[in-house]
Amino acid sequence: MANNGKKLSALEILHTGPVVPVVVLRNADHAVPLAKALLAGGIRVVEITLRSAAALEGIRRISAEVPEIIAGAGTVLTSDDLRAVAQAGGQFAISPGLTPALFAAAHDGPIPLIPGIATPSELMLAQERGFTELKFFPAEAAGGVEMLKALHGPFPRITFCPTGGISQENCKNYLSLSNVSCVGGSWIAPPELIEKGDWDTISELAVNAASGN
Ligand code: 3PG
Repeated sequence: MANNGKKLSALEILHTGPVVPVVVLRNADHAVPLAKALLAGGIRVVEITLRSAAALEGIRRISAEVPEIIAGAGTVLTSDDLRAVAQAGGQFAISPGLTPALFAAAHDGPIPLIPGIATPSELMLAQERGFTELKFFPAEAAGGVEMLKALHGPFPRITFCPTGGISQENCKNYLSLSNVSCVGGSWIAPPELIEKGDWDTISELAVNAASGN
């Protein structure tokens, strides 16, 4: 494990680097070479989305074989998902939204949940349950940089990881905001490069992303 077995907080995970690759993994055999390519490019956190049958096995393999990478899951929709991610060795869970069942499963759970919000009311619900590190999703469609600036006034204690529609070109606009710790996006490790096994291109994309500009 990247943290010698210690449970990392959401804040620690979201401050590890400026960009978190969001990955759809169709073949678990790609997990380890992908993690190594990202690491070679300077990335230390990866989000494997639970959108494919290979996702949990991929998280399991990265956790066991590339412990320098903090592997977690995205598209965590249910309390069963959350438990399965923790059992697979995932170190965090990210959800596109929030539900009472997810909050209950995350409460004192083995791994941190980073819930997604897109409105002030959802943010207030998350804050009321003690969550201060949130995913802002879908970032570009939900108001982007201007929305995050507007949320900072009433909610100065909240830190965001915006995701959805973010690219190498616009990520610096998000990263310049004081309430953004990192951004998430699929551009660093797109499915077509993973399926081709083009690890060199992924490493190059990771180098640019890890520089945050
Ligand atoms: C997602 O849920 O797929 C993530 O938010 C990534 O979005 P992106 O493909 O627009 O980077």
